[in-house]
Amino acid sequence: MSNTQTRKLEHVKMVASSPVEASESTLLEFVRIVHEPLPEIDLDDVDLSLKFCGGKRVRAPLMITGMTGGHPDVERINGDLAEIAEEHGIAMGVGSQRAAIEDPSTARTYRIARERAPTTVIVANLGAPQLSKGYGVREAEEAVSMLEADAIAIHLNPGQEAFQDEGDPFYSGVLGKLLELSESLGVPLILKETGTGLSRKSVRLARAMGIKCFDVSGLGGTNWIKAEVVRSKAKHGRPLRPAGPLSDYWGNPTAVSIVEARHAAPDSFIIGSGGIRNGLDAAKAISLGADMAGVALPALRALLNTGKEGLRELVSAMIYQLRAAAFMTGSKNVYGLWRTPLSIYGRLAEELRVRSIDVADYIYRARLKALQWR
Ligand SMILES: Cc1cc2nc3c(=O)[nH]c(=O)nc-3n(C[C@H](O)[C@H](O)[C@H](O)COP(=O)(O)O)c2cc1C
Repeated sequence: MSNTQTRKLEHVKMVASSPVEASESTLLEFVRIVHEPLPEIDLDDVDLSLKFCGGKRVRAPLMITGMTGGHPDVERINGDLAEIAEEHGIAMGVGSQRAAIEDPSTARTYRIARERAPTTVIVANLGAPQLSKGYGVREAEEAVSMLEADAIAIHLNPGQEAFQDEGDPFYSGVLGKLLELSESLGVPLILKETGTGLSRKSVRLARAMGIKCFDVSGLGGTNWIKAEVVRSKAKHGRPLRPAGPLSDYWGNPTAVSIVEARHAAPDSFIIGSGGIRNGLDAAKAISLGADMAGVALPALRALLNTGKEGLRELVSAMIYQLRAAAFMTGSKNVYGLWRTPLSIYGRLAEELRVRSIDVADYIYRARLKALQWR
């Protein structure tokens, strides 16, 4: 069994029970969607469906973002996540397919997702450090065809690589590779963070290279600096690379990351993720300017702790809460949430201000302007 495969299994086992979420918040608690007591629509009028990255339609603006694959013991997890995604018509991603590129005998631990979710959106996944170290169009095409994927996410995780015992902190040349991929692949490329958040600059650069889909994966949920420190400590009694406060406070909070991404690429498709834990978080992420919300850790924990039924309940509840939020703002569809009045206050307003984003201008002009691409 390769190191990559063993690490994949360790990650799943560890995050199921250890504290791996950042102490810093998403800053979504500083967003209030203004309640509309006179919505003038019925709950049943709300249609939550939308096109994923300009392609296939999903029935609700929710994605179980990429987590696993690569070890025989996690095949069932990908299969069950996919089954529930298919049932609800939502999108699902698999974890990094590096393990299957290195050892094709593990491909079935990813392919199971497509087998159990024949019609919904399935997203392939590879890491930017592998691009820096030599992966290119051939490997990305292999990852896509392994799953008959509708898109491929390239994940950015410099914090994780810097603090992982056997990390690959290699990012030189990644932009050039992203350009090559975005020009050559037959499916959309999603630029994705992994819990420390896309920045305005990264989105602007990627958009200039033709990339139109982003998964912000901001700070406030699973934090891979923290997870790698916990894993290293469990193995060696102390972390080989102590992270100090970085494991809780380094990163771009999810709410900031969504606004910056929409600001930098108004015509792009944005998945708001990182610390999304219920339908209200998801509604706030969308109201801020995301097209859909993404969730990882709670889906995995629900499945491992309470089985498929627990995961089914989580997904149903999140979708129902989103529907209710749309109803209580008089929004007949997802993009109605972009038109709702919002209060942005406290630390979020302050952080956006110091990042030179005019909050009122964003709410009343920039966010509405983005509707022309929908
Ligand atoms: C067990 C686990 C494994 C993950 N593996 C990957 C991965 O291989 N590729 C990737 O892009 N993101 C990976 N992620 C990151 C998630 O997709 C997501 O961006 C991050 O966990 C933040 O969302 P959350 O707070 O809802 O967990 C993983 C997350 C978890 C919990």
